[in-house]
Amino acid sequence: MALGVTASTGAADGAPLTVAVIGTGARGCELIRALSTIDNVRIVAVCDTYGLHRERGWQYAGPLAKAVGDPQRLFDETKPQAVVVATPPVTHAELCLAALERGCAVFCEKTLGANRAEAVRIAEAVTKHQAVFQVGLQRRANAIYRQAAAMVQTGMLGRITAIKCQWNRHHDWRRPVPVARNHPDFPELDRQLNWKLYLATSQGLLGELGSHQLDVANWVLGTPPKNVIGVGGIDYWNDGREVFDNVSLIYDYVVTPPPARRGTTLPPGVTADPYTVRVTYSSLQNNAYEGASELILGTHGTLLLTDKKGWLYREPVPEEIAWSPRADQQAAIVASGKTLKLSNDPWAHRGTPFEIDASGDDTRDALVSFLDHVRQHDPHTLCPVNDGVLNTTTVDIGNQAMTVGTRIAWPV
Ligand SMILES: NC(=O)c1ccc[n+]([C@@H]2O[C@H](COP(=O)([O-])OP(=O)(O)OC[C@H]3O[C@@H](n4cnc5c(N)ncnc54)[C@H](O)[C@@H]3O)[C@@H](O)[C@H]2O)c1
Repeated sequence: MALGVTASTGAADGAPLTVAVIGTGARGCELIRALSTIDNVRIVAVCDTYGLHRERGWQYAGPLAKAVGDPQRLFDETKPQAVVVATPPVTHAELCLAALERGCAVFCEKTLGANRAEAVRIAEAVTKHQAVFQVGLQRRANAIYRQAAAMVQTGMLGRITAIKCQWNRHHDWRRPVPVARNHPDFPELDRQLNWKLYLATSQGLLGELGSHQLDVANWVLGTPPKNVIGVGGIDYWNDGREVFDNVSLIYDYVVTPPPARRGTTLPPGVTADPYTVRVTYSSLQNNAYEGASELILGTHGTLLLTDKKGWLYREPVPEEIAWSPRADQQAAIVASGKTLKLSNDPWAHRGTPFEIDASGDDTRDALVSFLDHVRQHDPHTLCPVNDGVLNTTTVDIGNQAMTVGTRIAWPV
């Protein structure tokens, strides 16, 4: 069983795994480039409805791949074993269902469909076809986040009381459209290329950026949120877009302490009852200060996480805190040459953090792990479909809260 991120090995019968990529825009091309560096994989086809992107994807995939504009042709003519879906989320349900119907394993970019209902449909199809499925939430393949999840789950940080995430950029998110504004094709091409800016095709900042970070919260806390409040607006880029360029939300999670930790001594006034963790999320598009990071605050320590480095700050707790052997085991994960610099003496004094380092490529590692699972018919991928449903729902309720301006509860 491939449990973590492991090195990709040969297929059971030694033959290369045949993979097709649908959607060869920005993300699809990154995925194709990563796939082309993985042993024993053959990219048999790339597909995109937009000719310029299709051509670019095909150049990365190489001349042996077929380039088609219609997903139906891709399935019928190349019969791939695995399909990578990197199209806008509103197309994910249709494409995933088509791939699953044909017996393909699927790697689908986040978010899983346009909304919770579509994510659930995909999950039902995965169950029906007993397919190997992985959602492209690639912090799951990043050794820093894997380490952080183990540290939280083994109780090293004490009780988690809050998580703060932000993703700030100084960019309008617009892509150039290759015809003039007054050209009759402009509106359609703009909607096609700038789908992230329009409500019919986009879950906005929360879907495109927040999904990765809210996945970290769901993952490390081991539960989805109970409810959310939020506000947002088009505060700066008033350029015809429909999605907010400035969002702030607070999610409430209710965490039940694991049995093993219920007996531990708690300070007066602190009970072993289920407790609330508040997760704040914000994203801004006109100031890049702080960039993208997550802060996990526990009663014993704080983790500051980015995709390249993590920092651990100690809280002034009286008792000795040991490096958990289970968290240590996780640290031994070797992801395509990536190892963590860990020490058995991790608790630096506050203000001089212990650093967790990783070099590597999350995108490639996520695919390596997916392909290993496909070869072994192992459904326990790094991010299984049900986690994608939870993630999409988390995004969904956040957007609802900002739209209606009231607290929205997790759907029952
Ligand atoms: N994991 C990450 O870090 C990451 C980063 C960026 C985007 N994404 C995700 O990847 C997906 C694609 O985002 P992007 O930024 O590459 O968008 P993009 O617009 O650059 O690319 C999407 C491509 O899909 C094509 N397409 C649309 N409908 C299609 C269909 N029915 N069949 C075939 N092709 C179709 C478009 O023509 C376009 O070329 C989204 O789900 C997005 O959220 C993930």
